[in-house]
Amino acid sequence: MSATHSAVFPPEGQARFATLYPNMPGKLRHRLTSHPLLTLDALAELAAALPADSIEYNPGKLPIGIAPEDVPASDLGVVETIRGIANAGSWVALKRIEQSPEYARLLRDVLGELEEIVTPRTGAMMQLEGFVFITSPGSVTPFHFDPEHNILLQVMGSKTMTVFPVEDEQMFAPAVHEDFHLGKHHRNLPWRDEFSVLGQPITIGPGEAIHVPVKAPHWVQNHDEPSVSLSVTWRSQWSYAEADARAFNHLLRELGMKPASPGPFPAQNLAKALAYRAVRKLKGLRQSA
Ligand SMILES: [Fe+2]
Repeated sequence: MSATHSAVFPPEGQARFATLYPNMPGKLRHRLTSHPLLTLDALAELAAALPADSIEYNPGKLPIGIAPEDVPASDLGVVETIRGIANAGSWVALKRIEQSPEYARLLRDVLGELEEIVTPRTGAMMQLEGFVFITSPGSVTPFHFDPEHNILLQVMGSKTMTVFPVEDEQMFAPAVHEDFHLGKHHRNLPWRDEFSVLGQPITIGPGEAIHVPVKAPHWVQNHDEPSVSLSVTWRSQWSYAEADARAFNHLLRELGMKPASPGPFPAQNLAKALAYRAVRKLKGLRQSA
C-alpha cells in the first residue's frame, strides 16, 4: 500500500485521479487488461464459487415457453452465460468479489495505490467492495446512482458511460436523495429527456477507467463487442456523513421542517450525521427495551 508501487495505475493515472477525486467524473489509464483473474474462464470459475445471492444475471436467449424445470440451475447457467457471453444476448453482475481471497487481494492492491490521495480528503477508505460486469454486445445499464466511490476499469470490449452532475437537485429533489439513503428507492432513477444535455459521455476501452463520484447519476451503453469491466468501490467518512445527513434531513422533513441539503465536498456534514447517529442509537435502544 505505498504510492511508489504502481502496478495498476501508471503515475499519470494517479496524477489524473488526484485532479478528479472526490467529486469530478473523468478518465484514467490502468494496466489490468491481461490480469489472469479477469479472463472469461477465471470469471466463470469465480461465478461458480460465489454464493447465488452475489450473482445477478439475465440468461439471455431462453426460449419463451421454457418449462420451469428446464431453466438451468443458477450456478450452471451463469457459468455457461459467461463462457458464451459473445453470443448470449445477456449480462452478468458478480457482486462482492472480495468474498474470494484472491479477488480480495486484487481489490486491495488496486485501491491501495490510491490511498494516499483518498485518505487526506475524505478519510480512511472503508468497506472495499468489487464487482465485475460481463455483458453481451449492445447491452444497456439503465440510469441510476450508487452510494459508493467507484472506479470502473474496462478490461475487454468498450462502453460509453454518460455521467451527470453530482447532487444536482434540479434533477432530483432532496426527498429522492433521502429515500435512496433510507433504502426506499427503486434502483433505476426516473429519466426525463431534458436531462440529456446535462450528461457527459465518457467512452472507455481496454486499459481505460472512469472515476464515478458518489451518487453521480449515470447510464451505460455497451458497444458491439462483449465487455468485461471491474468496478472497485469504497466508502469513506465523508460519504457516510453525507448519507447520514440526508437521513437526518428526512426526519426533520417529517417534523414539517425544510432542512438545508448537505453541502458538497469539501463540506463534511458532520453535525447532522452525528445527530442522525444519535437518533438511530436511541431508536435502537427503544426497540430493544
Ligand atoms: Fe452504477
